[in-house]
Amino acid sequence: MELLVRPRRLRNGEKLRKMVRETRASKSSLIYPMFVKEGEGVLEEIPTMPGQFRYSLDTMDKKLEELVKAGVPSVMFFGIPDHKDACGSEAYNENGIIQRAVREAKKQFPDLYIMTDVCLCEYTDHGHCGMLKGEYVDNDSTVDLLAKTALSHVQAGADMVAPSDMMDGRILAMRELLDSEGYVETPIMSYAVKYASAFYGPFRDAAGSAPAFGDRKSYQMDPHNRREGLKEAMLDIDEGADIIMVKPALSYLDIIREVKDATDLPIAAYSVSGEYAMLKAAAKLGYMDEERTMCEMAISTFRAGADLYLTYYAKEIAECIDRGLIG
Ligand code: PBG
Repeated sequence: MELLVRPRRLRNGEKLRKMVRETRASKSSLIYPMFVKEGEGVLEEIPTMPGQFRYSLDTMDKKLEELVKAGVPSVMFFGIPDHKDACGSEAYNENGIIQRAVREAKKQFPDLYIMTDVCLCEYTDHGHCGMLKGEYVDNDSTVDLLAKTALSHVQAGADMVAPSDMMDGRILAMRELLDSEGYVETPIMSYAVKYASAFYGPFRDAAGSAPAFGDRKSYQMDPHNRREGLKEAMLDIDEGADIIMVKPALSYLDIIREVKDATDLPIAAYSVSGEYAMLKAAAKLGYMDEERTMCEMAISTFRAGADLYLTYYAKEIAECIDRGLIG
C-alpha cells in the first residue's frame, strides 16, 4: 500500500506513545473529598461507596497521612453534624465539625492544602441547601448564611472555600464578607456549573443529606442545558470566583470543554459519588477493570479541560501516576 500518512507509526511502543501524548496528568491536580463527623473512633464504611469512610477527628489523621504520603496535595472536607435544624446552624458554628476538622488537620498536616465544601444541606433538618419559605428554598436569606459559613471555615484555617449550594449571588456575598474581614487572599472555588444529578445519590447516603421532600431542581441545573452552564460560569466569574467547577464530570465532559474555552480561569471537575459507585460495582462483579477504567475517567476529564480533579480515587490515581500508568 502506498500510504504517506500512517498514524500507527506514532503508536508503536510505550516510549514513543508517551512522548507524543497530548494530555498529561499530575498529582498536583488531585483533590480528595472526605467526610468528617462527630464522635470518637468513627470509621464507618459508606455502604454505597465501598472503600470510602466517614471519619471522626481522631481517625481522620491516618487517612490524611496516607494521602500526604501518596502525594495528594489537597483535601475537601464535608461535615456531618450531630445536630440539624431549620437554618443549618452547625454549618457556621465556630466549633462545628468542619471548623474543628480544619483546625485539627492544619495542626497535624500544615502542608496539606485544605478546602471546605460550603453548603447547608448536611446541616438542615429538611436536607435542602438553604432556608425554606414554604417548600421553596429562599435565595437571599440563604446567601447570608452561606457567607457566614465560608467565613467561619476560613477563620478556622481553611485555605480555600468551595460553595456548592447553587444560590444566586453567593460568590459576591462571600467575597465581600471575606474581604471585609481581611481575607482578601483566600480563593473561592465555585461549584458554578452544578447539575441536578442522579449521580449524587451515594453522596447523600454518605452525608445524610437527601432532601426530606422534593428535589434540588429549583437550584441545581437542568442536565439538558449547555448555554445555561456558561451563563452560570460567567456570572460567578463576574462575582469574583477564582476557580470554576463543573459537576459531575464524566457525563459533562462537553461542558468542561465549553467552560474551559470560554474563560481563562482554572477549571475544576468533580468526579462524583455515583461515578465512583458505578465503577466499584462493575469491578466487584468482574465486569470492568477498575484501575484502567479509573485512569481513563481521570485522563478524559483532563483532556476535556479540567485543571483540577476532585475524586474519591485520588490516592489510587496518584499511585498510578507514580507507576507511569497515566501521566
Ligand atoms: C452539597 C454537595 C453535594 C455534593 C457535593 N456537595 C450533594 C448534592 O448537591 O446533593 C455531591 C458530591 C458527590 O456526589 O460526590 N450540596
